[in-house]
Amino acid sequence: MGTAHLLKLLSLFTGISVLQQVRSWSITLPKTVTAVEGSCVVVPCQTQPHSRVIWYQYHDINYPVVFDGLHPHATVQQFKGRTSVLGKAAEGNCTLRINDVTRADNVQIYVWINPDSKTTQKFHYQTVTILVEKKAPTISIQKQIVDGELFQAICSVYFSCPFSPPSIEWSQFLENSNVTAKMEKVQGQWLYTVTLQRLATYTMHDRKIHCCAKFRTFSTESQQIILSILYKPVTVTLMTEKEPVMEGDNVIMECAANCNPPPHKYSWLKRQMGQITNVTSPQSKMFFSNITRDTSFSCIAHNDIGAGQSDWLDLDVQYIPVILPESSCNLTGEVLKCVCQAEASPNASLYWTIDGNDTLPSSFSFFSTNKKNVVSGVLSGSATSQSNISCTATNSLGSSTKQLSIESLSKTSSLFMWLIPLILLGIALLFGCAMLIYRKYYRNRRTPGFTCSIMLSRSQSVQQEYHIPERSQDENTQSRPCRPESNPEVDCVYDNDIAVEMQQQHQNNATARGGLTQPKGVYCNMSDYLNC
Ligand SMILES: *[C@@H]1O[C@H](CO)[C@@H](O)[C@H](O)[C@H]1NC(C)=O
Ligand SMILES: *[C@@H]1O[C@H](CO)[C@@H](O)[C@H](O)[C@H]1NC(C)=O
Ligand SMILES: *[C@@H]1O[C@H](CO)[C@@H](O)[C@H](O)[C@H]1NC(C)=O
Ligand SMILES: *[C@@H]1O[C@H](CO)[C@@H](O)[C@H](O)[C@H]1NC(C)=O
Ligand SMILES: *[C@@H]1O[C@H](CO)[C@@H](O)[C@H](O)[C@H]1NC(C)=O
Ligand SMILES: *[C@@H]1O[C@H](CO)[C@@H](O)[C@H](O)[C@H]1NC(C)=O
Ligand SMILES: *[C@@H]1O[C@H](CO)[C@@H](O)[C@H](O)[C@H]1NC(C)=O
Ligand SMILES: *[C@@H]1O[C@H](CO)[C@@H](O)[C@H](O)[C@H]1NC(C)=O
Repeated sequence: MGTAHLLKLLSLFTGISVLQQVRSWSITLPKTVTAVEGSCVVVPCQTQPHSRVIWYQYHDINYPVVFDGLHPHATVQQFKGRTSVLGKAAEGNCTLRINDVTRADNVQIYVWINPDSKTTQKFHYQTVTILVEKKAPTISIQKQIVDGELFQAICSVYFSCPFSPPSIEWSQFLENSNVTAKMEKVQGQWLYTVTLQRLATYTMHDRKIHCCAKFRTFSTESQQIILSILYKPVTVTLMTEKEPVMEGDNVIMECAANCNPPPHKYSWLKRQMGQITNVTSPQSKMFFSNITRDTSFSCIAHNDIGAGQSDWLDLDVQYIPVILPESSCNLTGEVLKCVCQAEASPNASLYWTIDGNDTLPSSFSFFSTNKKNVVSGVLSGSATSQSNISCTATNSLGSSTKQLSIESLSKTSSLFMWLIPLILLGIALLFGCAMLIYRKYYRNRRTPGFTCSIMLSRSQSVQQEYHIPERSQDENTQSRPCRPESNPEVDCVYDNDIAVEMQQQHQNNATARGGLTQPKGVYCNMSDYLNC
């Protein structure tokens, strides 16, 4: 409000002369001041230099003091301790500050200065209306928050004096966040803005955030925002309604994914014997028929942001025991060792029967192999080769029995073990025989009888040299009966004839060597035998 206007107003009400108007008091004041509850408020005021300034609350009959620098105790209770005049009086600055504005501060005030100009001041015609507003902070976030991208929340609050902005506090996410603040003047007010920035994570989804503006004696809260973070399926879980499953039965698998937005598509993976089949469906449930053992499932959930796969779920498929073909018995000598392996789910229990008797005389041990659902038992003890051994595998679904074949591993090996000494014995015998024959031959070359046979076919000269003397004796005693016989005699006769001739020459020698008499007889017999 300009001074001219002020003077005009004054003259209108008082009818004071222009001179009076010129000499009269002038002041520059706003008509209204907006104060934010909890904040402070500044009422700008400019007038002529003065020594004292008093601010009053406008009242019909009273003069309630809002500020009096000289007599602070005179201040009414409502404003006590909250008001001050900041400007320099010598410069005519009568600006008033009210701290910690309350809703009750919604009043009209006016100023009075000293010295005045002869009571011509009409102060109460120059009032300032304080409008108290309650201003809550406002919070805003971006429209779409995607996991892994930047998240930004802005909290701003108006306040009414620049000296002490409120503090702004966040209800969430201060950890790992960057917070920046700025202050700006907007339409005669001050706007304090705090920005929180951090990485958006899916764990922030569905969480509530608000901010709070704190003045010295008063605080206000923004509205609450529930965050919606877009994220791909992070945890995907696969469930089945019933477990265990009997082999051949059907199952309904259900896939659940933690993601936003919800999945629009599911891929169903079925793994069996190392082979994976892939089916895609928009449904979160899937029906599978004729389940067989060793079946595993996994699902992949797809949403707009990405996809996520569940762990493999190995179905607990149950089936009756099957005795594996590896089951057999080995008999080594008198020791029987049997192994029985049975595949079953739930695990099978094994029972043995020997010749229909299930009370086992021999040791029985049981162990598991590392192959899933295969149990293995070992039976060992003494038994006969004709034992009838059977293994029975039982589980809650049923049982199966198999008569185990007895591997005659022991027989072949024992046979082999016997064979070697036998062969050795044979070789030894052959060798011994050969030696015997050789030695006999070697000795007999000096005995007449044996030479005779050779002599008959070969030369006579050899015979003559060695045997004639002996022969002569034979002739005398035993060779005679040979004579009358047919052709072969010729040789013999001839032989003997010579022997007769020779006999004469060696008669003395022969009689002297009485020890040779016996071999002569042998010779004769032999020659007789050969000749006849
Ligand atoms: C009056 O004093 C206040 C507080 O010191 C200051 O902010 C303001 O600018 C002054 N007014 C003028 C017109 O100098
Ligand atoms: C926070 O500020 C630092 C330094 O300016 C910057 O390196 C970092 O990336 C910021 N973090 C976030 C989440 O904005
Ligand atoms: C299964 O099919 C889906 C959709 O066609 C595909 O995204 C996924 O990679 C496939 N998975 C396998 C293991 O083949
Ligand atoms: C179930 O699966 C098994 C093994 O693949 C097959 O032999 C059998 O015929 C199937 N039964 C039905 C009813 O499809
Ligand atoms: C029986 O002998 C065969 C061949 O040596 C072997 O493979 C098998 O494991 C043995 N079985 C038992 C029950 O000892
Ligand atoms: C079965 O074998 C056990 C141990 O050898 C024996 O005590 C029992 O009499 C046998 N039972 C029958 C029925 O043969
Ligand atoms: C069945 O046997 C396997 C080993 O073959 C073992 O790992 C598993 O724990 C057993 N299951 C039960 C229920 O005893
Ligand atoms: C062995 O026992 C089974 C059943 O107990 C029987 O069928 C089979 O004839 C028996 N075999 C011999 C050789 O005793």
